[in-house]
Amino acid sequence: MEPLLDRLGRPLETLRVSVTDRCNFRCVYCMPKEVFGREYAFLDRKELLSLEEIARVAGVFAQLGVKTVRITGGEPLVRKNVEHLIELLAAIERPDGSKLELALTTNGAVLADKAEALAAAGLDRVTVSLDSLDDASFRAMNDVDFPVQRVLDGIDAAAAAGLPVKVNAVVKRGVNDHDIAALAGHFRGTGHVLRFIEFMDVGTTNGWQLEDVVTADEIVERIGARWPLEPVALESPDATARRFRYGDGAGEIGVIASVTKPFCGACSRARLSAEGRLYTCLFAARGHDLRAPLRSGATDTELAEKLRGVWSRRTDRYSELRTSETATLQKVEMSYIGG
Ligand SMILES: C[S@@+](CC[C@H](N)C(=O)[O-])C[C@H]1O[C@@H](n2cnc3c(N)ncnc32)[C@H](O)[C@@H]1O
Ligand code: SF4
Repeated sequence: MEPLLDRLGRPLETLRVSVTDRCNFRCVYCMPKEVFGREYAFLDRKELLSLEEIARVAGVFAQLGVKTVRITGGEPLVRKNVEHLIELLAAIERPDGSKLELALTTNGAVLADKAEALAAAGLDRVTVSLDSLDDASFRAMNDVDFPVQRVLDGIDAAAAAGLPVKVNAVVKRGVNDHDIAALAGHFRGTGHVLRFIEFMDVGTTNGWQLEDVVTADEIVERIGARWPLEPVALESPDATARRFRYGDGAGEIGVIASVTKPFCGACSRARLSAEGRLYTCLFAARGHDLRAPLRSGATDTELAEKLRGVWSRRTDRYSELRTSETATLQKVEMSYIGG
């Protein structure tokens, strides 16, 4: 099958699906409490795509070349019966007869209870966000006083259920950068790949400033000073993380340098919001409505035509064009569009 390319020659390969805009955390860099308190206008139940509607859209995406679907949010594990969505996605066949690769990104709060059911439903791997091992810093970052140990239990449960685990840590200067080496030390030798993410100017509410970004180079330098690191080849051309392996064989780390070394050039990701809007960039201001056609009887062929049209016109490369001015532009919130 000919790959579907956008205007910059980038193929469509991954679909990220936000299954809810709600979250049981209020991470300071994502859904700060001052903005996302109780009154925040979260989507109404009927505005959300149903699990069946999501699976239908994913099926059409699979016909257009998508290989991987990542379920995210908000917090995907607060969406009722998300396991059923995994079952529906696991039943989709790609044009060559293969299955979709199914991944999920979670804050891990309820993963200990759900890991087994997720694995049984057909999930292939999980990414757990964990920004600090220091309980006080972790509670302050999630801003709902959630203890770090329950996330660590979630990671253990996922591994016990046979799910490969990656751990994502967003680093914000002065907030958790003191914990970089401890995180690295904790996950060295466990087989779980730890990836550090530069703090990004997603949405318009997180008060982003360039000074708060701890660069990927600085992170690698700090860890490398303690445990020597060597670069590893990229996993795939559109991989978001640069990889480094410990010289002593204790595994590897990754750094996602979306601010200092943007990777728009090979970005093959489409994003579906919880209410069924298709975004072609994490930093987009507007999406393309798929819910209306879905609910007014569009056929799969008509949906495919719409997706093909959107992707083939795509020119987004926000991170490569980022300046201190663009940081204040109107952009969709990350909790709504999915990380
Ligand atoms: C929006 S969350 C959604 C999934 C789930 N709630 C979680 O936290 O893993 C997806 C990822 O985006 C990351 N993230 C959120 N805000 C960010 C920001 N401003 N800069 C960099 N990464 C961010 C989170 O740390 C998480 O790893
Ligand atoms: S990063 Fe994830 S856990 Fe934290 S507030 Fe955003 S959606 Fe929730």
